[in-house]
Amino acid sequence: MNRARSATVWAIRYGLPGMAIRVAARRGDLIARITADEALRENPFDAYDELRARGPVVSNRLLSATASHRTASEILRGDKFVASAGGGATGLLDRVLTAAVDPRALGPVDPPSLLVVQPPQHTRIRKLVSRTFTPRAVNRLTGRMREVADDLLDRIPEGEPFDLVEAFAAPLPVMVIAEILGVPTTMRDQFLRWGNEAAATLDPGLGWRAFWRADSALRGLNSWFEGHLAHLRHAPGEDLLSKLVHDVENGDRLSDTELRATGLLLLGAGFETTVNLIGNAVRLLLDHPGQLAALRADPSGWANAVEEVLRYDSPVQVTLRVASQDLQLAGLPLPEGRPVVTMLGGANRDPEVFAEPHTFDVTRPNAREHLAFSAGIHYCLGAQLARLEASIALQALFERFDGLALAGSPTRRGTRVLRGYTELPVRATTKSASVPGKRS
Ligand code: HEM
Repeated sequence: MNRARSATVWAIRYGLPGMAIRVAARRGDLIARITADEALRENPFDAYDELRARGPVVSNRLLSATASHRTASEILRGDKFVASAGGGATGLLDRVLTAAVDPRALGPVDPPSLLVVQPPQHTRIRKLVSRTFTPRAVNRLTGRMREVADDLLDRIPEGEPFDLVEAFAAPLPVMVIAEILGVPTTMRDQFLRWGNEAAATLDPGLGWRAFWRADSALRGLNSWFEGHLAHLRHAPGEDLLSKLVHDVENGDRLSDTELRATGLLLLGAGFETTVNLIGNAVRLLLDHPGQLAALRADPSGWANAVEEVLRYDSPVQVTLRVASQDLQLAGLPLPEGRPVVTMLGGANRDPEVFAEPHTFDVTRPNAREHLAFSAGIHYCLGAQLARLEASIALQALFERFDGLALAGSPTRRGTRVLRGYTELPVRATTKSASVPGKRS
């Protein structure tokens, strides 16, 4: 039964679109190549430029796409496009998909995940979550984040090669989000495994085997979360999730399924994206030693450096919207139901907004105009947490080690929507360690 439901979900959401994308990519279709061509994984940026050069909106038989900052903003901020759970499936297919999704295997793109629900449901859930997930509550975590970062750095073997993702960039966000959600840190490695499998569900064209693995991971996560929420209901802690479980506003509260979907989304979004931001930042700064030296000399520049990494090497490259009516976009007609791929990573390299967009410059005055956290009603709820966490992580790392260098070739993640590294081999030394006899 599970397998039949899963096969239906896979076929509608990934199998059919994946087949169409692969066929179109073989024919040289640019949108399909950006979505599926392995050769563009390392560098999709020339292809984004090509897409933008063809016009603000480019269409093939199935999809439209944009890499223009102005058009992407219009799509995300306006009310004519909606986020879609079906990866663009409409009508009967969308209804079959909705019926087939197993509530015991809810994922980040299944309703009632905030990412895919529409107003008024979205407005209601987002309001309830935002009451707990406030800027003040996030700022209060600053000291704890630094402690967690320092603890992880204490364990790094000086002078020996190690994987920065495994030792630092991945565990830091998972430990922080685990504290926010009141989950025991002993679950950390299990979450990382589940999260890595489940993150694949964001990509179009996911193969059946990878989907089945992700589906099993999601079942594990859902069942663990159900138990965890039941526990917090009877024995609430000081964490934000406990507050959310017990929060009632004007007689309204999140239902059990909404709580599970929100908890799962916060958990996944909390560590599957920030790991990429930290990893991408370290790689870029090692490649630009002059800029790293300037940041070491004047740490007030770190916040803008994080914005520039978000712009230049966006951890989330793509999001999808569907036209909710027949409409005009950048002067072109689009029919109701048309999926539009919004290339956030491409909009962030648009020369109309960013001078010399392919130059990495941590002092760029308007870096913050990027769309890396999307815009409009789905604007990232964790943006402030991610910014703070990355800034603390990078400062802690580069304060600790004045000599940090690549110790092998970094490996990019296999995902297209999420952009980061699975492996970033480095070697770390401190000045005192590198100058014999100077160790205090
Ligand atoms: C570098 C780190 C991060 C990046 C680049 C990022 C990016 C994004 C993007 C692009 C979206 C919107 C997608 C769309 O418009 O379709 C989003 C939504 C969201 N993010 Fe993040 N995110 C990050 C970190 C976080 C963290 C740390 C959390 C929470 C702990 C979080 C929670 C959320 C939630 C709950 C949403 C859904 C908001 C809604 O639909 O109303 N994110 N994020």
